[in-house]
Amino acid sequence: MKKKVLIISGGISKERLISLDTGLQVSKELKKNGYEVKISEPNSELEKKIKQFKPKVIFNALHGQFGEDGYIQTILERFKIPYTHSGVISSSIAMDKEVSKNIFIKSKINTPKFFTYSYDLKDAALIKKIDRKLKFPVVVKPLNEGSSVNVFICTKKNIIRILNSIKNYKKVMVEEFIGGREIQVAIMGTKKLGAIELKPKRKFYDYKAKYNINAKTEHLIPVDLTKKELNHLLNIAMKAHKIIGCRGVTRSDFKFHNKKFYLLEINTQPGMTKLSLVPEIAAYRGMSFLKLIEWILKDASKKK
Ligand SMILES: Nc1ncnc2c1ncn2[C@@H]1O[C@H](COP(=O)(O)OP(=O)(O)O)[C@@H](O)[C@H]1O
Ligand SMILES: [Mg+2]
Repeated sequence: MKKKVLIISGGISKERLISLDTGLQVSKELKKNGYEVKISEPNSELEKKIKQFKPKVIFNALHGQFGEDGYIQTILERFKIPYTHSGVISSSIAMDKEVSKNIFIKSKINTPKFFTYSYDLKDAALIKKIDRKLKFPVVVKPLNEGSSVNVFICTKKNIIRILNSIKNYKKVMVEEFIGGREIQVAIMGTKKLGAIELKPKRKFYDYKAKYNINAKTEHLIPVDLTKKELNHLLNIAMKAHKIIGCRGVTRSDFKFHNKKFYLLEINTQPGMTKLSLVPEIAAYRGMSFLKLIEWILKDASKKK
């Protein structure tokens, strides 16, 4: 009899649908290979399901708020059952772009310049600050979302309107816009799994470019970099994974411009949908979807 695996997916974040898809893909693959699988939402049914089903491992397929930011991890610690991906502290650090970017800067990892904005400046003062510190265009983004939800490239003309449209976040990031190429790196424990380049047809790698096949984002693998550049890139991703204290698989998002890599963020719960990048990088390295999932499950069980 193969292992019992409980998958947690769905949730209430803006990435709910992606999480349901991740959960479904993982569940299908495991069931096909003889695992006993149950899926649960991270709600009041979760505790009951864990107690009745008694899984050997819990696969956390959640993305975004409450699933990727240390909340569900805190709850899971209580059950003393291994769960996949990063733990409480590293998840919450990685999910907060302000905190994680400050750690990158302290660790000499290049990341776009930024400041946070709490709607506490007059419009003209804000524009002046951007002109002085970052220059237009800039990228405005929430501190703790994913999937490019509410990420905007802003000009002097539209920034005030855009900031007002996402005022409910109360605090957002205003970041230097970096042109050039978009490259992401998968790390698997101590292994630098590899990189993939994304060429969106849209203005940037937004939600549609990520998840809608019709948006026709090109996925390029292997990435056209020199051996030295690629090594450097993989080393930065590994360094970020380590300093944040991540576990299991992570995916780091970079821009590559004027021969410089800029780390945008590190994701502790990378997607596992059909269009997802970590499974694609793994496949390129000769690792099947099943082997990748099994590695993640095994890695969870190794946790002290
Ligand atoms: N500073 C930036 N310069 C250029 N493009 C950016 C910048 N920040 C974000 N983007 C674009 O927005 C996408 C999503 O941003 P990211 O910081 O990775 O947030 P998310 O957590 O939503 O994925 C990136 O993949 C990139 O295409
Ligand atoms: Mg990203």
